[in-house]
Amino acid sequence: MLSEIGKDRIKKAKVITILTGAGVSAESGIPTFRGEGGLWKNYPPEDLASPEGFKKNPQLVWEWYNWRRNIIRKADSNKAHLGIKKLENNVDNLYVITQNVDGIHKKTGIKNLIELHGNIFRNKCYKCGRPFGDITSEEIPVCDVCGGYIRPDVVWFGETIPANILERSYKWSKRADVFLLVGTSGIVYPAASFPLYAKENGAYVIEINKEKTVLSPHINETILEPASEGMKIILDIYKS
Ligand code: OAD
Repeated sequence: MLSEIGKDRIKKAKVITILTGAGVSAESGIPTFRGEGGLWKNYPPEDLASPEGFKKNPQLVWEWYNWRRNIIRKADSNKAHLGIKKLENNVDNLYVITQNVDGIHKKTGIKNLIELHGNIFRNKCYKCGRPFGDITSEEIPVCDVCGGYIRPDVVWFGETIPANILERSYKWSKRADVFLLVGTSGIVYPAASFPLYAKENGAYVIEINKEKTVLSPHINETILEPASEGMKIILDIYKS
């Protein structure tokens, strides 16, 4: 459910900025990090998606990414991703910032997109930074130049997001008339600060999630629905 105020703000919005998380891809069959089915062999994501985890056991981290890559390879966009794409037709500017590394928003052709945490199908050398494309080997590959281990080109816990990408994310958040949070637990920073920054700058902030989150008390309203249904509610506003 969405309030009349919320509907009005959406209808009048010229700029909508969306922050998506793993929940937007859940209906594509991709497990979220913290919800049901998110844990892999009982390892918390923080232990696997970090330089410490990689240093301790690079093969284990590589295997976790292989598991995720194989699921993502078979997955397709769902009605939530497609609903977000459709929203482009209803506003002057739609900006999408995703924490997901599955590349699905890009596949749907979103014009203004930031893949904040990178892309799981790109790799780089942990030692010299040399970029590599998709690699499917079961054993962790090594760089043919320096011999270092190859890792996915994603942002891990404890690593920083490139300054230009972060700056653009804040710019898009500040411009928003309405800011939508779709399928994110809102506990990973700096992403979780974007909706708060948007609100400080006058945006009306709406979250779509199956559950309330730590951000719920700090924003304007929550649509307690799966992401696909939530996006349908948003799109239906333009029909009335
Ligand atoms: P999480 O796994 O933390 O949260 C997923 C959220 O999606 C939860 O709030 C769920 O309630 C919600 N959810 C699940 N299914 C849903 C559905 N069908 N429709 C709507 N909501 C649904 O994922 P993120 O918030 O994306 O970072 O996690 C943020 C970051 O932490 C990730 O980018 C990743 C992770 O560790 C790195 O790897 C650095």
